[in-house]
Amino acid sequence: MRSALVVLFALTTLAACGDKAEAPAPTEAAPSAPQASPPKPITFDAAPVVNPGKLKYVAVCQGCHGATGGGQGPFPKLAGQPAAELIAKLNDYRAGKQVGPQSSTMMPFAKALTDTEIASISEYLAAL
Ligand code: HEC
Repeated sequence: MRSALVVLFALTTLAACGDKAEAPAPTEAAPSAPQASPPKPITFDAAPVVNPGKLKYVAVCQGCHGATGGGQGPFPKLAGQPAAELIAKLNDYRAGKQVGPQSSTMMPFAKALTDTEIASISEYLAAL
């Protein structure tokens, strides 16, 4: 039944071809389906880029070395030291090497760090 209507519609449409007159409005318009609104594009708010070195420093190191790496009491200042020096010292602590008189305090914290974390923390501190 439906296909017969489609054929009929096609024929009447074809018949109108070539006519200069405006094509007749199709009478057999398909029942209009409810128009689904197009999906909205997903947008992301401009989230602040979180520095992984800062995250780790704040979580693990700032309790001793200070919120901005300024040091306090027996805890050396880290902020502004060249990244390469910080990396070298952290690698020494991680390897169990003595750096200063209190190295045994530092070693367990360094041993818990990966190479990537040592690099990102050091770059964060060097830039402070
Ligand atoms: C429990 C306190 C404590 C925590 C937590 C701590 N440190 Fe230390 N850190 C020290 C002490 C004490 C020293 C001095 C060690 C020595 O005498 O060699 C030190 C030394 C250092 C040094 C060498 C600085 C220099 O100029 O000689 C670096 C680098 C360092 N810490 C980085 C870190 C990082 C990165 C973290 C976090 C992953 C961290 N520390 C967490 C106590 C701490």
